[in-house]
Amino acid sequence: MRKIILTLAAAAAVFSLSQSCSNGSEKCKNDTNCQKTEQCCLNGENQVVKAMMARRSIRKYKDTPVEHEKLETIVKCGINAPSGMNKQPWEIRVVESQELINQVNEVYKNANAETVAKDPDFKNMFRNAPNIICVAAENNAGLDCGLLGENMMLAAQSLGLGTCCLGGPVRFIKSNDNAKFFIDKLGFSEGYELIYILAVGYPDESPAAKPRDENKVKFIN
Ligand SMILES: Cc1cc2nc3c(=O)[nH]c(=O)nc-3n(C[C@H](O)[C@H](O)[C@H](O)COP(=O)(O)O)c2cc1C
Repeated sequence: MRKIILTLAAAAAVFSLSQSCSNGSEKCKNDTNCQKTEQCCLNGENQVVKAMMARRSIRKYKDTPVEHEKLETIVKCGINAPSGMNKQPWEIRVVESQELINQVNEVYKNANAETVAKDPDFKNMFRNAPNIICVAAENNAGLDCGLLGENMMLAAQSLGLGTCCLGGPVRFIKSNDNAKFFIDKLGFSEGYELIYILAVGYPDESPAAKPRDENKVKFIN
């Protein structure tokens, strides 16, 4: 009996080894070591890799606001990002108020009437998103805040949401006197400066991936 069990175990091991870590294979689905291989990842079995490869900047959104719970999850993932000496040199403001978005958008529309008139899909200056997440950095802590931002974008992606990291609206808000009320309303602490805004919402487009330059990567052996 013991011999039979040993033979069966050996056969199972050989079967498992003979299976490749490829798309849809049982091994790829069940074996965490297998999931770490490139073949498995590239074929979309690894959920983190899948989210990273599927994320695109979204510039058209459905009007449906994002559920509060989802926004909470997104920022929790954000602040779980690493930061130098765990200083967490960021402050985050999640804007759920449509009124505030509309108010600052009115200023944008007045200042950019021609551009807005040319865009039939224009809803607002935040690439038409129903919600935005504003990120301020302390002492130019751009690197830490960048990591925070990517965590939030990938969390949103995994929740079926789209995002777009926005620098343009920040430049507009800082340079237009009528828009500066918006920064006051966000109420960041002394020493913190708004550096980017994330548009968040349910995507109403699925743009193709923009090309990436693989020549920028070199493996040194
Ligand atoms: C720091 C930063 C600022 C950006 N600012 C804008 C912006 O103002 N408006 C915009 O439409 N997209 C903006 N983007 C999005 C980029 O255009 C986009 O990430 C890039 O084209 C690659 O496309 P993908 O995100 O779909 O892969 C910004 C991205 C980053 C990281």
